[in-house]
Amino acid sequence: MAARSGNRRMRWRRGERPSGGVVFAHWRTPALLLVLLCASACHPVRATDADISREQLGEIAMTRQACGSCHRIAGIEGADGTVGPPLDHYARRQMIAGVLPNTPENLARYLKSPRTIVPGNAMPQQRLSDREIQGIVAYLYQQK
Ligand code: HEC
Repeated sequence: MAARSGNRRMRWRRGERPSGGVVFAHWRTPALLLVLLCASACHPVRATDADISREQLGEIAMTRQACGSCHRIAGIEGADGTVGPPLDHYARRQMIAGVLPNTPENLARYLKSPRTIVPGNAMPQQRLSDREIQGIVAYLYQQK
């Protein structure tokens, strides 16, 4: 008798299972919405995105080149290196590497070839396109 009623309890009808279909069905819609939302909103900005800003491109290039392993750079996660000088408040800086007046053109020149500007410099030549250099310049000058 006990076995029979136990058996009946085991026979779930479709949609009644507490840990299966019903619960899943309740979660499916919000989960799907979340995935869709993430696909549009949480995906990281990519260098190939058509509407990317110059600053965003600069941020991506600096992250890729690991500039933060040598420099502290505001707004870039983990960029807390102490090999080179901190790059925050760059717009307020007077000189670049102590030798060039701080202008966007000079900063681009420096980034293109730091060791030409300061021979023996520990800052390595970077593999950066002109567009990426412009992006980095835009990013650093927004640091007032
Ligand atoms: C291996 C360490 C290293 C890496 C990686 C590195 N730098 Fe540097 N950087 C330095 C050092 C050291 C100096 C100081 C050179 C000097 O003053 O002559 C410097 C100087 C600079 C300066 C001039 C700072 C000033 O005081 O005016 C800028 C701007 C700069 N780096 C940007 C970058 C960017 C952007 C990247 C990544 C694309 C980068 N650096 C990657 C070591 C590094």
